[in-house]
Amino acid sequence: MKTEQDLKEIYFPTPKLIEWENGVRQYSTVRGDTEVLMSYVPPHTNVEPHQHQEVQIGMVVSGELSMTVGDVTKKMTALESAYIAPPHVPHGARNETDQEVIAIDIKRNKADETYTSPEDYFLNIFKTRDLMPGMEVTFFVEDWIEIMLAKIPGNGGEMPFHKHRNEQIGICIGGGYDMTVEGCTVDMTFGTAYFCEPREDHGAINRSEKESQSINIFFPPRYNRSKTKKVKADES
Ligand SMILES: [Fe+2]
Ligand SMILES: [Fe+2]
Repeated sequence: MKTEQDLKEIYFPTPKLIEWENGVRQYSTVRGDTEVLMSYVPPHTNVEPHQHQEVQIGMVVSGELSMTVGDVTKKMTALESAYIAPPHVPHGARNETDQEVIAIDIKRNKADETYTSPEDYFLNIFKTRDLMPGMEVTFFVEDWIEIMLAKIPGNGGEMPFHKHRNEQIGICIGGGYDMTVEGCTVDMTFGTAYFCEPREDHGAINRSEKESQSINIFFPPRYNRSKTKKVKADES
């Protein structure tokens, strides 16, 4: 039988530190087919173009990064855009500034998913709204993925327990909150990642005074669709 510690390691894996020769540090957490990387890129440092079998999605959490996917280069500022590098599409990044950049990257390779991207590989904000009173959420959407930036207000702000058929992964990027997955509770702080498989129940509460912020990812999209589904002629 699995102990509580074993379960925590599944839902909230302990990050492994990867240190690169160019000074980039990455904290890696993995569950199943998905790896979450939190990367610290020193000033004036390049991440050389490379490609791999996994799709890679990323977002800047702080600082500014010059990101190249295929032959498209864009400046990415914190939480305003995301990129998708589909399988085998080369990608690389340059921190041209005097400040360290913190970025989140997610690598995934699941047999039954098709990793589409916009023609220029970059996603802009799809929509911002209140998911619940006081809980502002911002969405980035592509056919197979939805990214939701969420703020949980302090002093007891809550995401009530629920479950759904979508896989859900998230990372705390500001403040802190208690996250519970299948009965295991962890005090989320900057960089903590959680992983929920379909139908695993989860919820969060922010007991601190400060608002918290997280990046949450759904496979497939839960709240939004990137394109309206075509209705077949024989359907009423
Ligand atoms: Fe990569
Ligand atoms: Fe959820």
